[in-house]
Amino acid sequence: MTSDDDAQAAFRALLNALADAYGQEDRPGARELVALLREGGPVPEPAPPYRYDAAILAATEGARHPAAQAARAAHSLLRWNATGILETLIPTTVSDMFAVAPLVGPGAIIGSDRVRAGLFMQLSGSLYPPHAHSAEETYIMLAGEADWQLDLGDWHRHGPGAMIHHPGEAPHATRTHAMPILAAWRWSGDVRSETYRMV
Ligand SMILES: [Fe+2]
Repeated sequence: MTSDDDAQAAFRALLNALADAYGQEDRPGARELVALLREGGPVPEPAPPYRYDAAILAATEGARHPAAQAARAAHSLLRWNATGILETLIPTTVSDMFAVAPLVGPGAIIGSDRVRAGLFMQLSGSLYPPHAHSAEETYIMLAGEADWQLDLGDWHRHGPGAMIHHPGEAPHATRTHAMPILAAWRWSGDVRSETYRMV
């Protein structure tokens, strides 16, 4: 196989690995996402370089989770970018801490008006402060370790495979340490990004 073929195979493996991971979550929104991921979508064209490519690859170096390995192998096809949330709702001092690669949602590779999902990378040594949105959300840690906070309560450290659920409107925050992290995220319910707010 050429490296292009490898990346395409890795992209399909990524969708399947995410379907396997969210298949462990017993919620209607997760089931809807799993069905969309299993159906799949077109393999994207190679993506242009992104300012956080080095951090994204550092996050997944030596990763064991199948979705992290697939994300690393499919890196050249993933459209990593800044969040799609409006700058009026999220200051750039916050949005500069992370990057997303949308996979499912309005205008994404797999189109949906009901579900959003993708990959999330947060830089090392950063605090993504409390924020909330109408959609319910579940993160799955894929590489690295981070502290997660729900409802302004205690912080809990989670590593690869951990599932972190945020009910709609519940404030949540994420803190990283020496290494960047890779996670998957999904939204369902009211997935309008205009409902996002810093808390
Ligand atoms: Fe969130």
